[in-house]
Amino acid sequence: MTTLLADRLSVAATAASRLVDPFGRMITYVRLSVTDRCNFRCVYCMAEKMTFLPHAEVLRLEELDRLCSIFVGLGVKKIRLTGGEPLVRRGVMALFQSLSRRLRSGELGELTLTTNGSQLARYADELAACGVKRVNVSLDTLDAGAFAAISRRGDLTSVLAGVDAADRVGIKVKINAVAQKGLTEDCAAPLIRWAHGRGYDVTFIEVMPLGDVVGEWSQRFLPVADLRASLSKQLTLLPTPYRSGGPARYWQVEQTGGRVGFITPMTHSFCESCNRVRVTCSGRMYLCLGHEAAVDLGQVLRASGDDAEVAAAIRAAVARKPKGHDFGARAAGAPPGAARPISLTGG
Ligand code: 5AD
Ligand code: SF4
Repeated sequence: MTTLLADRLSVAATAASRLVDPFGRMITYVRLSVTDRCNFRCVYCMAEKMTFLPHAEVLRLEELDRLCSIFVGLGVKKIRLTGGEPLVRRGVMALFQSLSRRLRSGELGELTLTTNGSQLARYADELAACGVKRVNVSLDTLDAGAFAAISRRGDLTSVLAGVDAADRVGIKVKINAVAQKGLTEDCAAPLIRWAHGRGYDVTFIEVMPLGDVVGEWSQRFLPVADLRASLSKQLTLLPTPYRSGGPARYWQVEQTGGRVGFITPMTHSFCESCNRVRVTCSGRMYLCLGHEAAVDLGQVLRASGDDAEVAAAIRAAVARKPKGHDFGARAAGAPPGAARPISLTGG
């Protein structure tokens, strides 16, 4: 066979193995929740008393690694480990380490995580050594009292120490805050000034009606438009065309020179450019944050040693990826709520 033909065949094989959904969206990004557990109990995320998945259902780290490899074989270029809190999973660094090999080989373009930051001080060095270049830290406020109240059992000091550690090892931090009525109107400006002072972007997301805290959702919901209005009393927000590749729309803050992003899952559709799927720690793959459509890859993985069978299940599911979510529609009428807690899929 000529090299040219071999090249053509390999290009064709690669194209055939890519994950493309019925709307032409290429799936290149997997968000993998490595645990549904967390050391916090944020009011918009978890109930005070949580029932977590039984251990037998949670995939072992080797199984999660195998699943990731299969996704990488299907053209996935970015993996984000989430939770619950990913860094409370015992031995999770072994997974980062094995994934870091795929980073080094170039098969994977980015390995990152979303964390509450409380364990970052402990793991920042190892994460950096694994090739993690960026981290999203969930932090709603710099007010220690309000922070304790929201997270129920969190300690602001540990999060700030985690952020410091990330800085020290050169991991770029992004701050994610959940916009909450009666809180964020006042907390947002100080948070932005602090973050921009340290060179971090900040993103505010509208609280979504997920899990068993949906009853309180409407009291907490602060539309991003309202948040921007209260912010503009203290800061000047200038529109910018900057996009980070995700759903956030960014504004430049005149006073700080930094960027602030807003994610509006409730009032805006950002589904056209969706390139992601979410996988829980038991291997359930959700095709869309706002839909129950899921496939149990864990079961397929455990039933078969053949990666091709798992790949086929992924492909079949992606072929059914919904066009978009309907939080907005639900918010307008009946009480909103997806049955699945965000701690299962990590937002
Ligand atoms: N709505 C929006 N964001 C949420 N998060 C947790 N629960 C919700 C919710 N109901 C956020 C966390 C974290 C990420 C994993 O999801 O703050 O940033
Ligand atoms: Fe834990 Fe994040 Fe949920 Fe808070 S929002 S309970 S930190 S997973």
